[in-house]
Amino acid sequence: MRILGIETSCDETGAAVFEDGHVVSNIVLSQTIHSQFGGVVPEVASRAHIKAIVPIVRSALDEAGGGLDSIDCVAVTTGPGLIGSLIVGVAFAKSLCFSLGMPLLGVDHIESHIAATYITYGEMREPFVCLVVSGGHTHLFLVETDLSQKLLGCTRDDAAGEAFDKVARMLGLEYPGGPEIAMTALEGDPEAIDFPRPVRLRAYEFSFSGLKTAVRYFIDRHQGEISPQLTADIAASFQAAATDVLIEKTVQAALDNGVKSVSAVGGVAANTALRDGLTEKAEASGLNVLLPPAELCTDNAAIVAAAGYLRFRNGETSGLSISPYSTRSYG
Ligand code: KG4
Ligand code: ZN
Repeated sequence: MRILGIETSCDETGAAVFEDGHVVSNIVLSQTIHSQFGGVVPEVASRAHIKAIVPIVRSALDEAGGGLDSIDCVAVTTGPGLIGSLIVGVAFAKSLCFSLGMPLLGVDHIESHIAATYITYGEMREPFVCLVVSGGHTHLFLVETDLSQKLLGCTRDDAAGEAFDKVARMLGLEYPGGPEIAMTALEGDPEAIDFPRPVRLRAYEFSFSGLKTAVRYFIDRHQGEISPQLTADIAASFQAAATDVLIEKTVQAALDNGVKSVSAVGGVAANTALRDGLTEKAEASGLNVLLPPAELCTDNAAIVAAAGYLRFRNGETSGLSISPYSTRSYG
């Protein structure tokens, strides 16, 4: 069974072919144009998708071999995401399916991120707790089967990736800020500044606005003194505060729910401090750690194709009337 996956939810144009549990091709074009604006400009993103979609899909098919004739179903991200970006992928996938009489599956973006665990570790045998941590989401799920996820909690305000991006901007670093903070932090001391770890939240709730504001105040108080070393210390201390909370709550959720494994997916799960910290804390608590490689954590179409594969194999299709959505509540 071969699935063509298409991803255009934000600023990555992706196409991939997934066949019976394996990624056959996975092409991603990251739109670097946004770095000059310090963040994703929705209209610019839509225009870049429309320009890239045909060559990217063609490359994914060429690399996989077999052409469109070999595809059983097209899976496309329907949301959440930037609506103009989503429309490009959904309209393209619909046209393809309409003209070729092929089945279409609209796939949820968070479910796709979770499918990175399936790609990496195969068929799920037992439930696990999955932290989905990206530019738009900070959600903890109890993944009960490959097709059912129960929301345990999410952020009250900013997503973790959004906090990385905003703090990077305060420090004069480029967009996307996550990798920039991670790199700058390598030269810094994570204990140099005691940034707040949000307390007094409900068990699986997150909040990053207080931490972001604390960084803003610190920078304002030290105007004129922000040397490269202090920049690195701020980045490292912010990263430590943000990841500590993510790690703590993920491990606690696994222990509370009696599961044996934890996973982290989404762009921020590419962060080495988070990966190392989660591995250390989870293993010390007797838990197994499932961490897909970084390239399957950030947005790509292999995860869309894999999530589509699981649904298509289950006998599901969407029909051609699907519409993209910018937000969704998982509760
Ligand atoms: O999953 P993703 O590619 O797109 C969304 O669905 O949002 O996540 C993008 C987010 C951005 O906020 C980016 O700064 C962050 O993931 N990110 C990172 C790292 N790589 C990407 N954050 C921290 N450390 C990283 N190494
Ligand atoms: Zn994403």
